[in-house]
Amino acid sequence: MKNFYFYNSTKVYFGKDEVNKIGKLSKEFGSNVLLVYGKSSIKKSGLYDRVNKLLKAEGINVFELGGIDPNPRIESIREGGNLCKKHSIDLVLGVGGGSVIDASKGIASAAVYDGDPWDFYSYKVESKGALPIASILTLSATGSEMNGGSVVTNLDTKEKNGWGSPYTNPKFSILDPTLTYSVSKHQTGCGIVDTLTHVYEFYFSNEKSYLNDRICEAIMKTVIHYGPIALEDPNNYEARANLMFSSTLALNGLTGFSKDFEGFNHITEHVLSAYYDIAHGDGLSILAPHWMKHILNEDNIDKFYEFAVNVWGITPDEDKAYVAAQGISSVFSFYRSLEMPLSLKDVGIIDPDFDELAAKSVKRETLGRFVKLTKEDVKDILIFSK
Ligand code: NZQ
Ligand code: ZN
Repeated sequence: MKNFYFYNSTKVYFGKDEVNKIGKLSKEFGSNVLLVYGKSSIKKSGLYDRVNKLLKAEGINVFELGGIDPNPRIESIREGGNLCKKHSIDLVLGVGGGSVIDASKGIASAAVYDGDPWDFYSYKVESKGALPIASILTLSATGSEMNGGSVVTNLDTKEKNGWGSPYTNPKFSILDPTLTYSVSKHQTGCGIVDTLTHVYEFYFSNEKSYLNDRICEAIMKTVIHYGPIALEDPNNYEARANLMFSSTLALNGLTGFSKDFEGFNHITEHVLSAYYDIAHGDGLSILAPHWMKHILNEDNIDKFYEFAVNVWGITPDEDKAYVAAQGISSVFSFYRSLEMPLSLKDVGIIDPDFDELAAKSVKRETLGRFVKLTKEDVKDILIFSK
């Protein structure tokens, strides 16, 4: 196990009705809160009214920025930053899925910066700070509620970039599984695939850490067990609760404390969603199984064997190649059972420019750490996925 530094500053309040704490928790940061939310889900569910009431009961002035897009846009970050400056905001509170929480992080950073916040996402400047951020999570997927990452799209430059700073971990996040009962079958599937892929990004690694791998396997098995139950019975508390904290743990440092992020799946998916505005989970569902098929080789067969036996329950056998291939087939079948897309065509991407997509993904010589992929490899995976 290699040396590592582990720290996560976000406080988590987990469970039914923990939302009732939002007024008191927010008040600790001041009296002016910017409430950030998405298109319509929190108004439909009644969460918007509930949160407003709880904040106002503590004498908090609530300003708001609604309408955050799935795959949030840089324009929302600029607008939110300006609102924070105008109203002397003390806390940026994101209520929604990963897009809303990611936007809240960008907004809180833009609030204390004089230039254009795209400077952060294009890695031109390092952030020197941010307003305090908090979240109420309504969709189990990204882990944004307990990490510092923020992914934002610039449609003008066709870029979707991930960025984070030491200041963008939420101060606290409220995770009430009942808030995810209303998440659609499709978004639940996207969340399951996103959680699994966050785990793959560390599990498929050349760095050895027994403990790390067993934690990864526990999260994958939990998601594989409870995903179908949540799809069948959306109001099943145990299923929603297990999915919720699995998604949080998958990208809060716990799965990657002694490993480097693999990268191919997320980097190439962000290129796909920058070009085609598809859901993050859809892009990952298309790419990851084809990536596995492409990279399986003699050198990494033990890892795929372990994945097949420990995660998918394939019977151990002397024929390692057979077992490893069965594990990958299980990924395809599981995603199919969730009704997730397995080809670019399934999400309406027909005849893309494979060279351009591969070139945007592979910015240096190669992409990925577990198996280093050239532009040609990435192009092949994309063609394979068409
Ligand atoms: O906009 P509203 O009306 O809220 O509807 C949303 C949206 O349409 C809906 N939704 C959310 N909670 C709901 C609900 N519908 C019914 N009931 C609820 N309780 O779901 C749709 C998708 O929401 P979104 O926030 O976009 O989904 P997700 O949480 O999957 O976030 C995706 C974004 O996060 C980024 C992705 O790239 C993408 O932009 N990621 C962020 C990461 C991070 N910060 O660490 C890591 C990830 O790998 C990922 O890249
Ligand atoms: Zn992801």
